[in-house]
Amino acid sequence: MDRSVADLRQNYTKAGLVRAEIAADPLAQFETWFNQAVEAQLPEPNAMTLATATPEGQPSARMVLLKGFDARGFVFYTNYNSHKGHQLEANPQAALVFWWEALERQVRIEGKVTPIDPTESDAYFASRPHGSQLGAWASPQSQEVDSRAVLEQNLQELEDKYRDREVPRPPHWGGFRVIPDRIEFWQGRPNRLHDRFNYCRDNAGNWQIERLAP
Ligand SMILES: Cc1cc2nc3c(=O)[nH]c(=O)nc-3n(C[C@H](O)[C@H](O)[C@H](O)COP(=O)(O)O)c2cc1C
Repeated sequence: MDRSVADLRQNYTKAGLVRAEIAADPLAQFETWFNQAVEAQLPEPNAMTLATATPEGQPSARMVLLKGFDARGFVFYTNYNSHKGHQLEANPQAALVFWWEALERQVRIEGKVTPIDPTESDAYFASRPHGSQLGAWASPQSQEVDSRAVLEQNLQELEDKYRDREVPRPPHWGGFRVIPDRIEFWQGRPNRLHDRFNYCRDNAGNWQIERLAP
């Protein structure tokens, strides 16, 4: 008989997280953990859950790929006319979650969201493979389509159109930056006594660190 879902559980024993060893700046701490996730050769270490919400508070979550981070925040790319794009236009706030299972680590990020500078989107779009560039034009993301054939037909037409030409960035496609005001680092520990450190930006813009109960 299959194990019951309720019986699936893991005891986390790999590492601990102590105040004396975490960085004063959460971006530096994120960089350390992100690099360790890359070095550990985790599949898609930059995959993250992006939660958005309507102004009324109806939430919606999906996976996206982190494509850059620095002191300004965390960047991902998408279709500005998508479901998430419209939610972010109406309510420019979001939450991000990373789960690096093999390292028993979770990172949670919350903050305001802003479209990135179009020149930044241009530069990233230009660096994408030709097929992905065409895909951005071919797919009216989040809209109903009659069949897969419609999308394949779109792609075929675009392939013909851009056979020997550079593909321009669609105006409806680009990046968003999540500007964090809260970042939490979670390290799994035995018996559910996990370590959690939460960085919060205070009114003066400085990061305050607190340990949270698991
Ligand atoms: C691992 C993974 C990575 C993804 N990365 C992106 C991404 O970077 N940008 C994007 O628009 N959609 C990405 N998607 C697809 C989204 O999860 C989602 O289906 C799409 O963006 C439409 O979402 P929306 O209708 O809520 O706007 C990814 C999906 C998976 C499973």
